[in-house]
Amino acid sequence: MTTHTPPSSPTRTAHDGLTLPATGFGTYRLNGFEGIHAITSALRVGYRLIDSAYNYENEGIVGRAIRESSVPREDIVVTSKLPGRHHSYDQARRTVEESAARMGLDYIDLYLIHWPNPSQGQYVDAWRALVEEQRQGVVHHIGVSNFLPGHIELITRATGVAPAVNQIELHPYFQQRAQRAYDDAHGIITEAWSPLGRANTMLKDRTISAIAEKHGISPVQAILRWHLQIGDVAIPKSTNEGRQRANLDLGGFALDRQDMDAIADLDNKQGRSFGQDPRWHEEA
Ligand code: A2P
Repeated sequence: MTTHTPPSSPTRTAHDGLTLPATGFGTYRLNGFEGIHAITSALRVGYRLIDSAYNYENEGIVGRAIRESSVPREDIVVTSKLPGRHHSYDQARRTVEESAARMGLDYIDLYLIHWPNPSQGQYVDAWRALVEEQRQGVVHHIGVSNFLPGHIELITRATGVAPAVNQIELHPYFQQRAQRAYDDAHGIITEAWSPLGRANTMLKDRTISAIAEKHGISPVQAILRWHLQIGDVAIPKSTNEGRQRANLDLGGFALDRQDMDAIADLDNKQGRSFGQDPRWHEEA
C-alpha cells in the first residue's frame, strides 16, 4: 500500500492500494523558471500530488522542484504520461525510462497512457510496456488517461492488470457520470483534468456564482468542493501562491443537496472545453 497524503486531506484509494489526496496540482503549461517557482510553491503550501506529462515538456523542472523540496520524496506522488507517438512496446518502455531520467528520480509514482489514440491501435502494447516498467520498479503504479470503458476492458483482459487511475476531462459542464460509475465499479480512481473547465467562463457562471456567494467562498472553491463531494481527484493549476492555498482550502464548508442538484443541471453532453473526444482524438 502506498500512501501520499497531506495531513487532513481527504483521499481516494485504488484497487492496487494506491492512495491519492483528493486535490493535486496540475502543471500543464508550467515551464521554465516560472514553472519551477509555481511547483516549488505548490509543494511548500501542501500539495503532494504533482501531475506532469512527457508532452508538457516540463518533467525536468518537476523533478528538480521535487528533488530540491524539503518534503520527503516518499510523501510525494508524481505522475507522468506516455505520448501517443511512443505507443509501440519498445518505444513506450524507453519513454518511461526517459521520463524518470528527465525528472532525475529513481522512480515515478504513477505513469499513465496519455490518450488511447484508437486509430493507431497500439495502446495495448503501450500498456504491456507500462506493466513491465512497473515490474522493474521504474514506476510504482500505472494507469490511463482519456480511456473509455472499452479501452480499459481490452488492456485489462490482455494483461490481467487493471489501471489504478483514469484521468479524464471532468468539470461541471462535462460531468462524465457513466465513466465515473465504471471507474468506481472497477476500483479505478477518476482524476479530473481541466477541473475548472474553461476557468474564465465557468467562474462567471450564474449558478456557481450564486452558490459561492451563499457560502461566502469563491467560485473556484465552489467548483473544487463539488469535485471533492462527487469523489474524484481534481488537479487545479495556479501560478499564484495565494490561489494555490485557496484551492486546497476546501474543508470549512460543504455544498448542500440543493447546490449539488443545481450543479448537476449544468452538465452538457457537448460540454468538452476543447472538443477532444477519446473515440477519435489523436495525441501526438
Ligand atoms: P492563475 O495561474 O493565474 O491562478 P487549467 O484549467 O489549465 O488548470 O487552468 C486553471 C486556470 O485557473 C489558470 O489560468 C489559473 O490562473 C486559474 N485559477 C486557478 N485557481 C484559481 C483561483 N483560485 N481563482 C482564480 N483563478 C484561478
